[in-house]
Amino acid sequence: MVKRGRDPEKTASLRQLLLCWYQHSRRDLPWRRSADPYAIWVSEIMLQQTRVAVVAERYKAFMARFPTLVSLALAPEQEVLALWSGLGYYRRARMLHKAAQFVADHHKGNLPVTAGELRTLPGIGAYTAAAIASIAHGEPVAVVDGNVERVLCRLAGWGAGSRSGGGAALRHKVENLASQLVDPTHPGNFNQALMELGATVCLPRNPQCRMCPIAADCVTRGEHKTPPRPKMQSREVACALSVRIGMHPGQASREVLLEQRADSLTVMPGMWELPSLADPAIPGDELRMTVRHAIMQVNYCVRVRTVFEDDVEKLLPPDGDRRWVPLSEAAGIALTGLARKVLARAHLLPTAPL
Ligand code: ADE
Repeated sequence: MVKRGRDPEKTASLRQLLLCWYQHSRRDLPWRRSADPYAIWVSEIMLQQTRVAVVAERYKAFMARFPTLVSLALAPEQEVLALWSGLGYYRRARMLHKAAQFVADHHKGNLPVTAGELRTLPGIGAYTAAAIASIAHGEPVAVVDGNVERVLCRLAGWGAGSRSGGGAALRHKVENLASQLVDPTHPGNFNQALMELGATVCLPRNPQCRMCPIAADCVTRGEHKTPPRPKMQSREVACALSVRIGMHPGQASREVLLEQRADSLTVMPGMWELPSLADPAIPGDELRMTVRHAIMQVNYCVRVRTVFEDDVEKLLPPDGDRRWVPLSEAAGIALTGLARKVLARAHLLPTAPL
């Protein structure tokens, strides 16, 4: 069977429309002001699984502390995790850190240039390699994230455009189409335009087809199937907020009791959190606050109990790796997002990011 490619004129017009739209409609985001491959790498890792608004907040502090790949490579892991706090999926931060150390050791601190070379680095997959190579170096390689997949599925009229619904064959078709479409002269902007279109116009549940620059070329044009929302579970948990006055150094200052998660855990290993309580029943006068917090597919309802220093032994399990941490230092350590949220709401941390 002869495989027919896309009509070249249609492809040229689609590229033009998308690039023009992107030029006028793109959001002004901090990482878009840089052509530094390291800065682009950091932003792309942060943007995986985290909303743009949250990344925009955290990215600046991260880049201020680690402005170069070598500065990141030289930092202790706990500090990298502390700067990652609030972004979640901390494995990404560990992998980024390890890959920076690898580049510092094996490539004199310079990221390789081509997508093919970038892919050989630990922790850099096809998506990240293509994003860095196209945006920083103008290599004409297609970037396919979840947003791009949805846009292209709708454009071509292929299924629901949901990652879970399509399987490997659909994914392959999408990658093929993306490679045919990518603009050879402005691949970085083209890729970002498709991602931006998916993030702001071609939305999963409520696509704004009237705002879409390529609606005329779109097979689906609003007649989209709605992918089901991922099912969230609910869970109720309780944790202890215990604050005492300690001497630091030779001066009275407040300390909070924190517990380090075991290194063997798969979720947030080595990070610091408020000690958890086995008993979620909390006497009314000791309920400090209730916090809602989502981690992956679970909505947590967290009851926070005030625990006085004298009751710590009685109320907490005996085996935690706990430490009294001066509040002045707490903001700089690798707190879990939940611990940071509770401490900030209790006015025990500065509210601004680090
Ligand atoms: N999502 C992830 N990376 C992006 C980028 N560079 N532009 C727009 N959306 C993105």
